[in-house]
Amino acid sequence: MTLSEDNLNYFIHTYGCQMNIHDSEKIAGILESMGYVSCNSAENADVVVFNTCCIRETAEQKIYGHIGAIKKIKKNNPDLITVICGCMSQQEGVAEKIKSSYPFVDVVLGTSNLNLLKDAILSAQNRKKYSNVDFLQNREEDFPQSRTSYPNAWVNINYGCNNFCTYCIVPYVRGRERSRPMAEVMAEVKQLLSQGYKEITLLGQNVNSYGHDLADGVTFAKLLDEIGRLDGKFRLRFMTSHPKDLSQDVIDAIASYPNICDNIHLPVQSGSTEILRRMNRRYTRDAYLALIDKIRAKLPDVGITTDIMVGFPGETEEDFADTLDLVRRVKYSSAFCFVYSRRKGTPAYSMDDQVPYPVKKDRITRLIACQNEVTKQISQTMVDKRYEVLVEGANSHYQDTMCGRTESGRLVNFKCDESLVGQFVTVQIERASSATLWGKLVTEEKCRKIFHL
Ligand code: 5AD
Ligand code: SF4
Repeated sequence: MTLSEDNLNYFIHTYGCQMNIHDSEKIAGILESMGYVSCNSAENADVVVFNTCCIRETAEQKIYGHIGAIKKIKKNNPDLITVICGCMSQQEGVAEKIKSSYPFVDVVLGTSNLNLLKDAILSAQNRKKYSNVDFLQNREEDFPQSRTSYPNAWVNINYGCNNFCTYCIVPYVRGRERSRPMAEVMAEVKQLLSQGYKEITLLGQNVNSYGHDLADGVTFAKLLDEIGRLDGKFRLRFMTSHPKDLSQDVIDAIASYPNICDNIHLPVQSGSTEILRRMNRRYTRDAYLALIDKIRAKLPDVGITTDIMVGFPGETEEDFADTLDLVRRVKYSSAFCFVYSRRKGTPAYSMDDQVPYPVKKDRITRLIACQNEVTKQISQTMVDKRYEVLVEGANSHYQDTMCGRTESGRLVNFKCDESLVGQFVTVQIERASSATLWGKLVTEEKCRKIFHL
């Protein structure tokens, strides 16, 4: 039964990181090429896709709950096709678990099997189950994409990860590092710019090792050079950088090209050298701090963000104090703070000295408070100053308010006409409440014309 009279509808639940958000744009593109139209809930859908994440246990539990809820929806709409894809389905034993515990699921696909999505849906339309989590195929292809984030666009440059941090499931579910050929990346970037996108974010688990598996000697710094040299006003960002691989060439490229944003996401994970060693991060606290100094020497206005974990096995109060101290020294503009989550199949899963949950909870609360204090201090230094902001869209929480980012990556709210989405404007910061900045549009010649002032 199709609930909407005329269309076949799809709904995608996306969990996890930017990589998954971008994969969902590809999933949407494939479904739209088959005639499906986006709708706003699983209840109204003919195809519901769960694009999953398994980086932490909490994400996984939530997803299983949401998949379970489909059973009831399927009672009302037996033709509903349910697809599970993304990192969770790639984990050992999960495809089998879904088959036995969630028999109403029609399709299970792994992280590099999106090329099979169309066939899988066609099979499901004929009431045949479809399952393939063979990621050795490693087929990332040129999919139709339904981009939803204008004026921003994401571009994959490499897939997978070779680093095997001892806590992390990603190398097991996304496979070994594979770089896209530079010509392919450049063609996509040029096409996006010609379509009017104003901000490109290059995506990879470790963008800094881009090219090491290609024969032509390309590096991430060379890719930045090529993109930096393109004409036109646009911004380039990239994520994620592994501190052990962020080279001086990359820092120099950021400094050389005004189009490349002074903004680096540089996950530190811990401020303790001993914990970093146990995590297999392959840098020390001092090496990380030296890298920060090197970056700031060349890019004094850079916005640095990070990922930090508390409660890794063996983390003592002293180790944690080192993390707090590092946060205060580095002065991150923001930090994603996580409680360590045990992932089966990773080396840290079987480490002896797991940290009790109440200790983890106490540490994450203190870490967040510490980072909030740092963010607040940085925000206050921005008040009364003017910044170039790319207008991104309406702020869903405040009426008549738009938002956009500074070059360093800070989100600013301000009043302006919606017609300015996709334009670079100047905003004067008026007040700051910790992470949130409020400003006013500085009426420049361009704005005067639009507003007939
Ligand atoms: N537990 C908690 N956080 C994790 N991350 C990766 N694996 C785990 C885990 N097992 C965090 C890291 C990484 C970010 C994407 O997720 O901080 O940088
Ligand atoms: Fe996971 Fe480490 Fe690879 Fe990042 S670099 S994806 S944390 S293994």
